[in-house]
Amino acid sequence: MKRDAVTITDHRTEQTYEIPLVDGALPAIKLRKIKVADDDFGLMSYDPAYQNTAHCKSRITYIDGAKGILRYRGYPIEELAEESSFVEVSYLLFQGELPSRAELDSWRAEILGHAEVPERFKRLYDGFERDANPMGLLVSALAGLSTCHPDSRNVKAASSRRLQALRILGKMPVISAYAFRHNRGRPLVDADRSLSYAGNFLRMVFSKGEGSYEPHPALERALDTLFLLHADHEQNCSTAAMRNVASSQAGPFTSMAAAAAALWGPLHGGANEAVLRMLEKIGSVSAIPSFIDRVKAGETRLMGFGHRIYKNYDPRAKIIKRLADEVFEAQGKNPLLEIALELEKIALSDEYFVSRKLYPNVDFYSGLIYQSMGFPVEFFPVLFAIGRAPGWLSQWNELMEDDEQKIARPRQIYTGEVLRHYRSRD
Ligand code: SDX
Repeated sequence: MKRDAVTITDHRTEQTYEIPLVDGALPAIKLRKIKVADDDFGLMSYDPAYQNTAHCKSRITYIDGAKGILRYRGYPIEELAEESSFVEVSYLLFQGELPSRAELDSWRAEILGHAEVPERFKRLYDGFERDANPMGLLVSALAGLSTCHPDSRNVKAASSRRLQALRILGKMPVISAYAFRHNRGRPLVDADRSLSYAGNFLRMVFSKGEGSYEPHPALERALDTLFLLHADHEQNCSTAAMRNVASSQAGPFTSMAAAAAALWGPLHGGANEAVLRMLEKIGSVSAIPSFIDRVKAGETRLMGFGHRIYKNYDPRAKIIKRLADEVFEAQGKNPLLEIALELEKIALSDEYFVSRKLYPNVDFYSGLIYQSMGFPVEFFPVLFAIGRAPGWLSQWNELMEDDEQKIARPRQIYTGEVLRHYRSRD
């Protein structure tokens, strides 16, 4: 008779077990009743990199990798990119519903109200070299900010979590812009709360000083949309890091530092930087075929291509590709665009990529836009982190409200020495 369950026969004992499914998934802990002896620990599942393991239930983001679908709280990313804003999406992700006009105005005002750091904290970066990588500065600042807000460790109170989320959303652009200014030896610029979230960030980064700075409307809109497109992506590596660290009831600032550290890797949020370095290294359209040969020989990877979930075109990449046209109209075409477009064209018709379902992901075109806006390649992952902040915070909030969750502590399959006794080496 059909029912939501699986039956497992253990041929070591010829015992049969029926395990009910929960939300269409097998509760792995139920495998523990499959034993070969009473003192047996019980069966574990083995899943390196959690390729087929759900570590939580979530209502925040839905992805269908086969169909290239991405929805935040049920709203298609295409509609949000067209109609919404990064601040409105941060409210949607954290609170679960779109805000009224009054709720949005209040949410934005609260965020911008936190767009500052203590005077002494402004000197944090003075302890770093001028050429310190901005992601290293950002990770340091996030962890350091936990010392300015000890109340942030009150992770069990929903009201405290909402306050910390607003604080961090307000401070992410500030500590990011300060990293940019530190790298260039420029004086820090305080927030201008009369500007939009993206406009204020662009001014803190590119202003020539306390003088007036008018962000270019097309760049302001494009950056806001890029932040929105990066806002969440269910259980990616950095979000899993956020949840893992926060599961010990560590505070949100240090959990975000861990998430940003995970994002920095070139296989994850560092890919946007790696794409630009790859395009610069290829150098010309004529050099693409030999580069593709090296990828197919396994000597290198086509950065910005491929995805653990999307086995179709990343919907964000499509939107970013259109956004690029708007930015290049304002800033002039990025000369590397021609190489990127030709690379995509060749890859999408090559059996190696087609058979592995490798398509452009969110990182393939975003770096071209960031570079045209005037950001250096090493700053690209910082821009990804600003965008992903509401996602990390919303997933953290959901984790803390989930009664099924406890401190993360995976198991292992031990394959080392069983027992040895110490003897000194002569
Ligand atoms: C992000 O998870 C998320 O949601 C992340 C993200 C988010 O919003 O948070 O979407 C953001 O991180 C996007 C991905 C950015 N990374 C890159 O662009 C780096 C390049 N891509 C990859 O290295 C790779 O595609 C991953 C890391 C993204 C996914 O890797 P998987 O799922 O572990 O796949 P795999 O490494 O097992 O590869 C499967 C096959 C292998 O070939 P075979 O061993 O079968 O012969 O595909 C090949 C790989 O060699 N392959 C690539 C490739 N990606 C996979 N070959 C060449 N170039 C690539 N980019």
